[in-house]
Amino acid sequence: LIIVLDFGAQYTQLIARRIRECHTYCEILPYDVPIETIKARNPVGLVFSGGPSSVYEAGAPRIDKAIYDLGLPILGICYGMQSMANDLGGVVSMATLKEFGKTRLDVLDPTVMFEGLNRDLICWMSHGDTVEAPPPGFTIAAATDNCPVAAMYDAERRFYAVQFHPEVVHTPWGTEIIRNFLEKVVETHGLWTMESFIEQQVQLVRDQVGENQVVCGLSGGIDSCTVAALVHKAIGSQLTCIFVNHGLLRKGEEDDVRRKFAAAFNINLIYVDAVERFVGKLAGVTDPERKRKIIGEEFVRVFEEESLKLTNAKFLAQGTLYPDVIESGTKSAAKIKTHHNVGGLPENMNLKLVEPLRYLFKDEVRAVAEELGLPSDMVWRQPFPGPGLAIRITGEVTMERLHLLRSADWVIIDEIKRAGLYRKVWQSFAVLIPTKSVGVMGDQRTYAYPIVLRAVTSEDAMTAEWARLPYEVLERISSRIVNEVPGVNRVVLDITSKPPATIEWE
Ligand code: XMP
Repeated sequence: LIIVLDFGAQYTQLIARRIRECHTYCEILPYDVPIETIKARNPVGLVFSGGPSSVYEAGAPRIDKAIYDLGLPILGICYGMQSMANDLGGVVSMATLKEFGKTRLDVLDPTVMFEGLNRDLICWMSHGDTVEAPPPGFTIAAATDNCPVAAMYDAERRFYAVQFHPEVVHTPWGTEIIRNFLEKVVETHGLWTMESFIEQQVQLVRDQVGENQVVCGLSGGIDSCTVAALVHKAIGSQLTCIFVNHGLLRKGEEDDVRRKFAAAFNINLIYVDAVERFVGKLAGVTDPERKRKIIGEEFVRVFEEESLKLTNAKFLAQGTLYPDVIESGTKSAAKIKTHHNVGGLPENMNLKLVEPLRYLFKDEVRAVAEELGLPSDMVWRQPFPGPGLAIRITGEVTMERLHLLRSADWVIIDEIKRAGLYRKVWQSFAVLIPTKSVGVMGDQRTYAYPIVLRAVTSEDAMTAEWARLPYEVLERISSRIVNEVPGVNRVVLDITSKPPATIEWE
């Protein structure tokens, strides 16, 4: 285990991803986590992330200096390097000239971190403060025109640090630098694979649930299907999946999911038709957060009711992923929206949670799913949010609006698939804004709803670009929706990335 101590950088998750790409397991903890917690986890190395502060600011994040005495190798990145320099007696100077963007890096010492790489590299810089002089015992390993200490190390104590960001794609050899640190300094052996992850989780699930029964909320998406497959591998028939039709599903989904699930697994499945119940609760509700809370709470209530019908059901398995955990756990991050499976859960819940994927990123879940042998259309299904179509209708959710949105959404998915783009885009779907505009059809005036086409590309949904769909595809989607969906007379395209927008509209 490598622990990444987070100083609040937007890139911290990327650091974790890169380390895991080197087949080394890592977790992110806040920089001020008690040293006892770190020791208890028994890591083999530490990484200090970047952060937005200056070491000179009052209240700048400071780690407990006892961390340096743990005898663990450390890699400091950006603020992490400045912090290390400052703590160990180096000189950090305040920003006079900020360095931002792609920068030429001169490797002065091609050992360890830079082993096997060119002496002349491109790196991504984003900093104000600069280390002017490294602490006693350190050697300068690289410099740029504006940064005399762009990398430094103390081989004896195994402290390494870089001013630039090896974790971003704009540092082309960045992963190699991280790998060098892991393999040559920490001496990890790249043993963390999806296979070993599955084995470990199977054991943990067995230990956690014992002889009890587990219910698993199944949506048909990759996360919940993977959780089901993993938990089933661990405890077999002690698992029952519950698929709730909340009336906010896409066209044909309730049958499709049941059919595919039955074909892929030999797992008990209970189907609950709760359409009236959910749509009833949503009547008159227009606030996005209230919609999310209502749906989150109702989900759990349905699971509880169903689990009461089983003997000894004490646990609820669900597909919470690492980004949900990090986002809801950081002190400084502003709350953007309540994901139904984290903040949307009611406080008084009778079931305990089983969340074997809570340390994985989406692409890792797909790898686990493939390893577990899930069919490829399950593995590569586009993500669909738990609150479903409710958060794709701004304003009130009604049966009529759901029907309309479902029909338009179906056209989009159909055309995206026909064009061979389904896997290339991260998500592609319809949004209904219930405001009307005038049109003309067959010489008649129409006054009807517009449909928004939203399609994005993304690596992990943390950031996203609007997808540059070919004009012909846009054309077909537009004309089919207007022709095939009564009540719609206009199609508009959402061309906003995330940030500043989010992927879903609510
Ligand atoms: P946003 O809209 O925040 O969405 O950019 C990021 C990703 O998360 C999905 N999403 C959800 N998934 N429960 C889920 O299971 C939710 O409450 C939820 N809200 C958003 C969204 O579809 C996108 O992939």
